[in-house]
Amino acid sequence: MPRPKHTKTRSHQPVPSPRCWRAAWPEPSSASLQFGSNTAPPKPIQRWSASDYAKNGRFVQEMAGAVFAMLASKPGERILDLGCGDGVLTTEIKATGADVLGVDLSDELLAVARMKGLRVRKLDGHALDFVSEFDAVFSNMALHWMRKPKLVIAGVYRALKPRGRFVAEFGGHGNVAAIATAMRAVGVLRNGNPELVTPWFFPTVEEYGALLTEGGFTVKEIALVPRLTPLKTGIEGWLRTFGRSLFDQFAEPERTKFVGKVIELLRPSLCDSRGVWTADHVRVRFIAERGA
Ligand code: BEZ
Repeated sequence: MPRPKHTKTRSHQPVPSPRCWRAAWPEPSSASLQFGSNTAPPKPIQRWSASDYAKNGRFVQEMAGAVFAMLASKPGERILDLGCGDGVLTTEIKATGADVLGVDLSDELLAVARMKGLRVRKLDGHALDFVSEFDAVFSNMALHWMRKPKLVIAGVYRALKPRGRFVAEFGGHGNVAAIATAMRAVGVLRNGNPELVTPWFFPTVEEYGALLTEGGFTVKEIALVPRLTPLKTGIEGWLRTFGRSLFDQFAEPERTKFVGKVIELLRPSLCDSRGVWTADHVRVRFIAERGA
């Protein structure tokens, strides 16, 4: 089984960029943000730059080996790659002989995936429109951008054939806790829109396991995996790539000033004496089977 050399991404789209957004604090309750069961997909929140992602998101690619091995795709299987991004892992799945379709919301990342000769579609993970088509749905580091997990799980259930498998890894409880706290601190002081400050869904395994079970899946394995990750391109690249929804609310020169503030808050916790930055990553990794 070839191990992926790289990984991919997730979706989501432009956000209006008011210079300063006055809104009540704290953030919306976890119930409304994370588990909301109304049927409307939340507004896309994040813009992606394919080149920034390729440069600053490589750690994501380097961490995908275990979940890729868990998928164990076989020749002829039909696989949906949910949040395929620029298609790095989609390519690896295709190389196993499987028939893979990638879906994502980012036009820019999908364009890169198409250039690799991959079959991809622009589609919101909250609104999957497949019916009993796939042997497996795979997702790497995309589900934490999808803030209504019940909608996502219901769409994955419909998309799978009976007894099909859902195999995924994404940000879990405590993921990038220091980074998120520093972003919130700066967001609060600058009156940022709370919904855009840290727009991620990082559940515990108990929470996500229960959502899968309620959604008709049998959870075969689920674990929270802490993973300290040295950031080869430093913290600024991380913030400007993954924290865009916070910083895009502000015009320059304030934007750069606010990025600098977050970096200074983080330095004592995440930067060592040699100037090496480490991110406090925590992943949820699971395999679940759709009922018959
Ligand atoms: C992560 O790799 O842990 C991550 C990526 C994007 C947003 C938040 C966290």
